[in-house]
Amino acid sequence: MKILVINGVNLDMLGVREPHIYGGKSLDDINKDLAAQAKAYGAEIEFVQSNIEGEIVEFIHSGRLYDGIILNAGAYTHYSIAIRDAISSIETPCVEVHLSNVHKREEFRHTSVISAVCVGVIAGFGEKSYKLALQALLN
Ligand code: DQA
Repeated sequence: MKILVINGVNLDMLGVREPHIYGGKSLDDINKDLAAQAKAYGAEIEFVQSNIEGEIVEFIHSGRLYDGIILNAGAYTHYSIAIRDAISSIETPCVEVHLSNVHKREEFRHTSVISAVCVGVIAGFGEKSYKLALQALLN
């Protein structure tokens, strides 16, 4: 089982960015923990991040070569039709992930244009959201 983890805009700032919302861990630390969990499950896992919408689209296209995608698109979640179309254009199942519970936050975060083309959504469990997404894909 090969999994691709895609983090989008501003997620390279984790650890520094609003730690009361997103926690104190860096993206590298989160990825290391997730890699250890994947190894324990015998899964292969790769990580990419970009702040650029078109690069995220290309990462999603490359997800054709994987068995599953874990995607935190950051703020693009709420308005990027390009990212939505990229997910629709491949067969690989994609799990939408958020560290924060977006539904408890500002109204503009309550809309996701990608949920309807993802197999599921996990939000609100901090870094554990990624681990739960991995478990969901492996099951
Ligand atoms: C986020 C939630 C988004 O609303 C926000 O723009 C982010 C992070 C999350 O992981 O909670 O950048 O995707």
